[in-house]
Amino acid sequence: MKLLVVGSGGREHAICWKVSQNKNVEKVFCAPGNGGTATLPKGENVNIKGIDELLAFAVKENIDLTIVGSEELLVDGIVDKFQEKGLKIFGPDKKAALLEGSKAYAKDFMKKYGVKTAAYEVFTCPEKAKEYIKTCEFPLVVKASGLAAGKGVLICQNLEEAMKAVDEIMVDKVFSSAGEQIVVEEFLDGVEASILSVTDSKVILPFISAKDHKKIGEKETGLNTGGMGTIAPNPYVTKEVYDAFITGIMNPTLEGIKAEGMNFAGVIFFGLMINEKGVYLLEYNMRMGDPETQVVLPLLESDFVELLESGLEGKLDTADVKWSSKSACCVVLASGGYPEAYKKGYAITGIEKADNMVFVAGAKLENGELLTNGGRVLNVVAVGDNLEDARAKAYADAEKVEFKDKCYRKDIGVLYR
Ligand code: AMP
Ligand code: GLY
Repeated sequence: MKLLVVGSGGREHAICWKVSQNKNVEKVFCAPGNGGTATLPKGENVNIKGIDELLAFAVKENIDLTIVGSEELLVDGIVDKFQEKGLKIFGPDKKAALLEGSKAYAKDFMKKYGVKTAAYEVFTCPEKAKEYIKTCEFPLVVKASGLAAGKGVLICQNLEEAMKAVDEIMVDKVFSSAGEQIVVEEFLDGVEASILSVTDSKVILPFISAKDHKKIGEKETGLNTGGMGTIAPNPYVTKEVYDAFITGIMNPTLEGIKAEGMNFAGVIFFGLMINEKGVYLLEYNMRMGDPETQVVLPLLESDFVELLESGLEGKLDTADVKWSSKSACCVVLASGGYPEAYKKGYAITGIEKADNMVFVAGAKLENGELLTNGGRVLNVVAVGDNLEDARAKAYADAEKVEFKDKCYRKDIGVLYR
C-alpha cells in the first residue's frame, strides 16, 4: 500500500509513524511533511499543498489511502474531490466537516439532537449581539463561528470586554470571514478532556481519553497556544464521566449524524468540559488533535491502517480495538517567544540520545541537519507504567535534546484541581 498523509506537524509525524507499522504499507508520503516525516524508513516528503495538487499526486502515484491531518482542507471539501475520482480518503466530506467549520452549525446540531452543551445564541449582526450581551451574566464566551486556527474563542470577564470582542470579530474582522457569524455562549468552569474517536456514520468508536495543556505558562497561565503538552489517559475521565459522555454526548451525536443523512468515515474529536453539573461538549473537531494524537496513537495496540479501512468499509461495528493500559506523556519543546514572535533556523542536537519517541513538529531537514522551523518544534513522547512514570521519562528526554531558545512547560501532566 502507498499512503498519503496531509499536513506538516507533530500530529502528522505521529500518524506517519503509526501507519508505517502496518506490514502492507510500503510507502508513506507526507505532504508537505517536516524533518521527521522525511526520515521515517518508509517516509518521503512531497512539497505540495492545495486540493488540486494533492489530488493530481494521489492519482499519479496510485495512492491507496489518504489521511488528512488538519481541518482547513476538510472544510474546503478535499474528501468530496478525492471521492469523485474514486480515491480512498479518511475524513469528513464537506457537509460533515461543517461540524468543525461552523460553530453556529455545530451548536444548532447539538441542540437539535440533545447533546449536552453550554447555552448559546448565534448572531450575524453586531448590534443585535451587543443588545443580547447586555442581558448576560459574566464571564461570557464570544466565538467566531468559522475556522480561526484555534484563536477564535474570547473569554470575556465583563461587559466592556464582550463589546470589544464583538467589535474585533464582526467589525474589525480580525478573523476575516470566520467572524461573519458569532456564537455567544455561557461560560463553563471545569476541567477539560479530549476524546478522539472514529466513525463510519453507523457507529462511533471512542479512543482512549487525553488531556491537552493549552496555555503557554505553567499552572495554565498566559496566552493560549496550539498545545504545550498532553497526557493519556486523562485522569479526570473517570468511569462516571465516561458514561456521561457516552449517553449525553456521543450517542446523541451519532443519532444526529444518521438523522442528517451524513455518510462519511472519519475522526470526531470531542472537546469536553467536566464540572459538578456534568459533562458538556464544547466543540467537535473533525480530525485528530495536535498534540493529542502524539499520546493516543502510542497507546493504540491495534493496527491503525486496518482500523481506518474498516471505517471506510462501514465495518467499525466489528472492529476490535485494543488499548494499552499504560500512560503516555507528550512534552512540547517550543521556540522561546512562542506563541508570539520567535526565531527559527537553529540546529537541533541530541535527538539520538532520547530513550523514547521524539516527533518532529516545526523543524526541517536541511543538508541532513535538523533546524528549528516553527513555534512548536519537537514533541517528546514517552509511554510509562503510569502517568508519573511516563512524565519522568518524557522530561528526561526533554533535557537531552538541545536547540537555542528551547523552552517547555515543566508541569505537563500535573493536575491542579
Ligand atoms: P473551542 O474552540 O470551542 O473548543 O474553544 C477553545 C477553548 O476555549 C476550549 O478548549 C476552552 O478552553 C475554551 N472554551 C470554549 N468554550 C468555552 C465555554 N463555553 N466555557 C469555558 N471555556 C470555553
Ligand atoms: N489540541 C487541540 C486541537 O488539536 O484542536
